[in-house]
Amino acid sequence: MALTGLDQFLKDDQILTGDADIKNYGRDWTKFFTPNAQAIVFPKSTEEVFELVKWARTTKTALVPSGGRTGLSGGAVAIQKEVVVSFEKMNKILSYSDEDRIARVQAGVVTEDLQNFASEKGQYFPVDFAAKGSSHIGGNIATNAGGVKVIRYGLMRDWVSSMTVVTGRGEVMELNNDLIKNASGYDLRHLMIGSEGTLGLVTEASIKFTRKPNDPLLFLVALNHLDNTMDVFKAFRDQTNLLAFEIYDELALQYVLKAQSNLSRPLETVAPFYLLIEVESEGDNSEEKVLSVFESCLEKEWLTDGILSQSDQQSKDLWAIRENITEACAHRTPYKNDVSVKISEVTPFLKDLDIVLKKEYPSSEVVWFGHVGDGNLHISILRPENMTPEEFYKSSQSIDDVVFSKVREYKGSVSAEHGVGIIKKKHLNYTRSEAEISAMKAIKAYFDPDQILNPGKIFD
Ligand code: MLT
Ligand code: ZN
Repeated sequence: MALTGLDQFLKDDQILTGDADIKNYGRDWTKFFTPNAQAIVFPKSTEEVFELVKWARTTKTALVPSGGRTGLSGGAVAIQKEVVVSFEKMNKILSYSDEDRIARVQAGVVTEDLQNFASEKGQYFPVDFAAKGSSHIGGNIATNAGGVKVIRYGLMRDWVSSMTVVTGRGEVMELNNDLIKNASGYDLRHLMIGSEGTLGLVTEASIKFTRKPNDPLLFLVALNHLDNTMDVFKAFRDQTNLLAFEIYDELALQYVLKAQSNLSRPLETVAPFYLLIEVESEGDNSEEKVLSVFESCLEKEWLTDGILSQSDQQSKDLWAIRENITEACAHRTPYKNDVSVKISEVTPFLKDLDIVLKKEYPSSEVVWFGHVGDGNLHISILRPENMTPEEFYKSSQSIDDVVFSKVREYKGSVSAEHGVGIIKKKHLNYTRSEAEISAMKAIKAYFDPDQILNPGKIFD
């Protein structure tokens, strides 16, 4: 029996094999793949993960690490009889050092729980995105998660002070020991971050906190034309302390309003695009200063309308519109493109892509949104209602070629923050050179000599 030996170090309730569990734990938010794992295991400690890797090497069993399963590139799906390693039972915040301003956590801690913990300590954990209520810290590390505050606070990578990882070689490594300065050779911590569980299984991490920003000021503005997006961005970036700079289009807004009856249209003006702009307030006349930036954008006719949120509830609702786009469109199994270009290329790239998509797919519904202040767009092509997700996934491969050719032309990335997983692996070479990919494969071969860690993800 393929699972023989697991019971040497895991209890019965740490191993599931039922159909419903296979279905649940074998998938992420991509919904294009049919889960086909052979079991799900729930280790409770680094020692048990160590035993698991040893077992997998001996039995030549593939392991798929699994966090909150909110990924959008298929990085956590199990479709070829793998054993899913869920970190759900490793969900403890182990310690906190106020002096270091660092929390030590197990990999299965939910992002929002850590945000709340930081807040209880009078601090702030700034990695923030729509899936924060389910995503795990370990998953955030595996994918180097981004989100809505990257413009100010950077990526997950910037908040990981150290980690414990069990590599595919079966070695337990402590990486960095919470040092701020450590110039002693390669920083393997950063190699593990973003490696999508293909090199090692992160079991614990030390996460940095920071000062909570002053009360934010939140604008929702209407944009007449993509052309002016980055004019507005530059005006706010240069004159305010930006916390977020997000874009979404009218179609996205319509889907959210349809799905969420508690939310209402935020502006009277119906515009093709909207920007959600959050800035940190700085002293007494902060509001006036920020309003003058907004007014100068209006005068220049970059914007057609806008509001400054007047209450916490209004801010929550404005954020809810942006954060609910993914869920509101989920029933249409969108084919997502999570692409990025550098800031100076955003405007020409957006315009070019818009033309190409309208020409190639005149009848497709395309939802535009994303973290435009980071040069990161989520272009989601909605599945026509008369197609199954599988048919749509197949037919979408031609969209990839069109979109990624543009991305390559602009020297952008085919995956800005969602990872490569299964969905983007065919197009990795649109972003990475042959030399880079072969270096990555050599690193993979070193850390995972038996190909047991998330095989078939990032590359074959
Ligand atoms: C977001 O920005 O809302 C997330 O990356 C999820 C998504 O792209 O759907
Ligand atoms: Zn995003």
